[in-house]
Amino acid sequence: MSNNINTIAVCGLSWGDEGKGKFVDYLAQKADIVVRYQGGSNAGHTVVSDGVKYKFKLIPSGAPLEKEVIIANGCVIDPKVLLEEIKNLRDMGKMVNLKLSSTAHVIFPFHRILDGLEEQSKGKYSAGTTKRGIGPTYSDKVARWGIRVFDLINPDLLKIKLEKLYNIKKKLINVYDPNWDMDVNTIYEEYRSYGEKLKPYVIDTAFYLNKAIDSGKKIVFEGAQGNLLGIDHGMYPFGTSSNANVLGICAGAGIPPKKLNKIVGIIKAYTSRVGEGLFPTEIHDEIAEKIREQGHEYGTVTGRPRRVGWIDLFNIKYGIMINGVDQLIITLLDALEGINPLKICTGYELDGEILKSWPIQSEIIERCIPIYREFEGWEPRSRAEWSRIAKKGFDELPDTMKTYVKAIETELNTEIAIVSIGPDREDTVILNENVF
Ligand code: GDP
Ligand code: IMO
Ligand code: MG
Repeated sequence: MSNNINTIAVCGLSWGDEGKGKFVDYLAQKADIVVRYQGGSNAGHTVVSDGVKYKFKLIPSGAPLEKEVIIANGCVIDPKVLLEEIKNLRDMGKMVNLKLSSTAHVIFPFHRILDGLEEQSKGKYSAGTTKRGIGPTYSDKVARWGIRVFDLINPDLLKIKLEKLYNIKKKLINVYDPNWDMDVNTIYEEYRSYGEKLKPYVIDTAFYLNKAIDSGKKIVFEGAQGNLLGIDHGMYPFGTSSNANVLGICAGAGIPPKKLNKIVGIIKAYTSRVGEGLFPTEIHDEIAEKIREQGHEYGTVTGRPRRVGWIDLFNIKYGIMINGVDQLIITLLDALEGINPLKICTGYELDGEILKSWPIQSEIIERCIPIYREFEGWEPRSRAEWSRIAKKGFDELPDTMKTYVKAIETELNTEIAIVSIGPDREDTVILNENVF
């Protein structure tokens, strides 16, 4: 069925890894273009497309379907990672239809080194970053001495700007490690060659995208990370360095707000978090272990075991507000099989009072006590059985799962349009055909 939705944003409402990759691939079936607008190779998006598993760090998840994919200006680019991803896709027989923004910023080896050093010195305020140089690259962008893709593909500019930046970064790194040194010419030669290889993909993506929207193309904006990791509205300082929510789209892709037609928020049936920082509904016992194993909760980028806990509707409500979510997708319900009872956090208590809104500040959150409702769980089933159920639709889900989903929908006062009970595209139960 066709509708008037031409641009749709897919955004994680928690601490990332909600299943954005799976659903960007899903929605991309109807799209012309898929766009990444923030983050870099800190992201790890898994897509199981036509039975083949892909893991993307930078390339938008529309790539397995050979859709046009755009990496817009708000992203930070590790050229080596990007070239590897392009090569991997080609080796798998895929056509790569990529456009890369000339104004995206470039990650250099000294950014990755600084990421590690700064993390160490932050002590209890460390976010447990992926050490991919994300924070230091965004810092240089804001300080206005960052190097952009345009510089990368112009060797003369690259030489001048890299030498200047290198000298500054060397002084900084030497504060932590007085003996650190690197040959700037070696970095230059390596990056000049990356620039040469990436040049054919580089354009002004904002012009391109606005024209595409005006001509009625269907576009999916793929969020990376999740709302609670966002720099402005996440759980500062335990997050990432970009606006990991729909607010990042306008600046990160050059799209005026009124050109965004729809916002879809992705939530997990429980919560996961990789890295440091508060996690009010975290669980540590054998139940956590069971969820981690059943949901394969190990970081896509770093392989770290993800921390797990109960679903936190209080912080999801905050994410719905910040993102203006129209509809929700809930994932990984199958991974809760065999766990009884299940808990849903509906709010926080602080000093004997029930809070009206999510408290945002880490120093306050750490004093809050989650309030839970308990639900009956569902029995384990084989992977094949979950797939069979998905084909038959919502009525075939276990009654207790339906109750769980409907309770979440009611509590959040936002429609759940899609339910996901497996990693494959087909393991999906559509409640509303008219999402995109
Ligand atoms: P993203 O960063 O939001 O794209 O999510 P990740 O790819 O990092 O992590 C989500 C993981 O869950 C991936 O391995 C997906 O293949 C998988 N996944 C997504 N939806 C479901 C689901 O409903 N059930 C199960 N069992 N796995 C899922
Ligand atoms: P996707 O897109 C989960 C976390 C890191 C760390 C913090 C800052 O797959 O959902 P950074 O390297 O960005 O400076 O790290 O953010 N983090 C993620 N956690 N999923 C991600 O991406 C993440 N990207 C960053 O663990 O706590
Ligand atoms: Mg991920």
